Amino acid sequence: MEQIDVVTKDVKNFSLPPHMEDYETHRKTFHWDKIKKDLEWFSDGKINAAHNAVDRHVNNHRKNKVALIYESTSGQVEKYTYLDLKNQSNKFANVLKKLGVVKGDRVFLFLPRIPAVYFSFLGALKIGAIASTLFSAFGPEALVDRLGNSGAKLVITTPELKPKIDQIKDKLPSLTYIVVVGKNIETSGNVPITVDYHEEMKLASKSFEVEHMDPEDLSFMLYTSGTTGKSKGVVHCHLASIQQYYTSKLIHDLHDEDVYWCTADHGWVTGISYGIIGPLTNGATVVLYEGRFDPETWYSAIEKHEITLWYTAPTAIRMLMKAGDELPKKYNFSTLRHIYSVGEPLNPEAIRWGIKVFGLAFHDTWWQTETGSMLIVNYPSMPIKLGSMGKPFPGIHAAIVDDNGNELGAEIEGNLAIKKGWPSMMRGLWKDEERYKKLFKGDWYITGDRAKKDADGYFWYIGRADDVIKTSGERVGPFEVESVLVEHPAIAEAGVIGKPDPVRGEIIKAFIALRAGFNPSPDLEENIKKFVKEKLAAHAYPREISFVDSLPKTRSGKIMRRLLKAKELGLPLGDTSTLEE
Ligand code: WT7
Repeated sequence: MEQIDVVTKDVKNFSLPPHMEDYETHRKTFHWDKIKKDLEWFSDGKINAAHNAVDRHVNNHRKNKVALIYESTSGQVEKYTYLDLKNQSNKFANVLKKLGVVKGDRVFLFLPRIPAVYFSFLGALKIGAIASTLFSAFGPEALVDRLGNSGAKLVITTPELKPKIDQIKDKLPSLTYIVVVGKNIETSGNVPITVDYHEEMKLASKSFEVEHMDPEDLSFMLYTSGTTGKSKGVVHCHLASIQQYYTSKLIHDLHDEDVYWCTADHGWVTGISYGIIGPLTNGATVVLYEGRFDPETWYSAIEKHEITLWYTAPTAIRMLMKAGDELPKKYNFSTLRHIYSVGEPLNPEAIRWGIKVFGLAFHDTWWQTETGSMLIVNYPSMPIKLGSMGKPFPGIHAAIVDDNGNELGAEIEGNLAIKKGWPSMMRGLWKDEERYKKLFKGDWYITGDRAKKDADGYFWYIGRADDVIKTSGERVGPFEVESVLVEHPAIAEAGVIGKPDPVRGEIIKAFIALRAGFNPSPDLEENIKKFVKEKLAAHAYPREISFVDSLPKTRSGKIMRRLLKAKELGLPLGDTSTLEE
């Protein structure tokens, strides 16, 4: 096949004109103030992201439009209109109110991909609570850090996931309620009080006076991993929804006739910004697919729901590629109009494969939990240079800067930085002002990514500047994994790195020094993997383990992951002057 390096325009022909016909023109004339009028503001100048995502549409032509198409693991389909979403989220807001949840309280969702995610997330926003989500693969250790640090008052979960909360509830003095979505729930009056979701939803009124929020009031928070220490709580405000709305509109190009599928779990920021807030604020029809990744069921979901816009991730694309070119021929993908990717570098090969199989190029998008919305993007109307992340969204100033915050010229590698002040920028790190301040250098937010910019203004990803691991697009902090490893009775010390992997981007690799009296064995290796899976998270365990006698450390006792990685990859060891000995 001919090697394609630039895609000048999508292969298919479209009848729908894109919302952004020309990037450069849009960029020149853009101002956030012009977008503000697209949202509904209360007469007191306040706003509520859930009102704009749902209730607003009930007063226009979208009242009976399908907002949510849910497909369960067993293939059963349920549809909810915008009116249904309004009523259900109002009911949940009333449940919260009855339980005494007030503005500013933290409400956490620990749920699989079921419609209650939408009802509870939006209901929490309506009452002015700070909503947060927990990936359902998290184990007790990850949960206690997040629920403990945030001082969560209420968790909504299922009977299957609840035992993980029960294991740690004694360590969570602020946790007052566990709301359980399931059948025959045994309620209990002991704190944390167990509440039957369906029972309370049945009793609750569907009328609710939505809380008027200052645009800067917090709406949701998400814990994400850094290079050192435990995960940090990134907080976002109600105003962020303006940018989630407008990026969804211009990038995902949502029109009323679209059926949109974001494959990300709501436990990650993509599932919130582009699974819930962005597309609903545009009045779109959103698909919620409960099942796990599987090439056949994913392909059939596209065909069955007649999906037109699809937002997914490189690891999933590479796994689809692995499943072969024959399988996709069995399905009809003619409804697809644009396809997108996020979370890790998208290889040119994956784009070429997409063109062959779907007749469309995957549009890569770059952003982070901290940025709240897509910032560097390949737009449907802009030529794609394969391997590049694209160009900054209108209104966003991105640059490559050195370690002192000085802007660097074209083709020079440096820190990817964004000029602060965009609407969906995080408003802080929960209870950690010090660490938050360190993320900035003057007016620049330093993203932690290394990149370069070419002469045409396209940005190219190089790698992380820190030790953060991206495995299957999911962000894992090495410190969190190391902390759990050293709790294992056989382990004296552990160092964790991301090792390049052709499918998962990176896998987690642990270097382990055993305690006296323990010897390496396949059984011990399995036991260690299981230990991390159960305690921390099913996705955050080391797929590879090397047993070593000791780990390279600095004189102050910090494990030198950089050295472990260099040795693993056969790279030059670099500066070892701080090495112990
Ligand atoms: C990190 C942020 C917000 C989307 C989900 C990830 C990496 C993200 C790309 C891309 C190369 C990417 C970066 C970034 N990343 N998108 N298009 N190309 N790398 O959010 O978990 O906060 O992770 O993911 O390293 O800093 P996140």
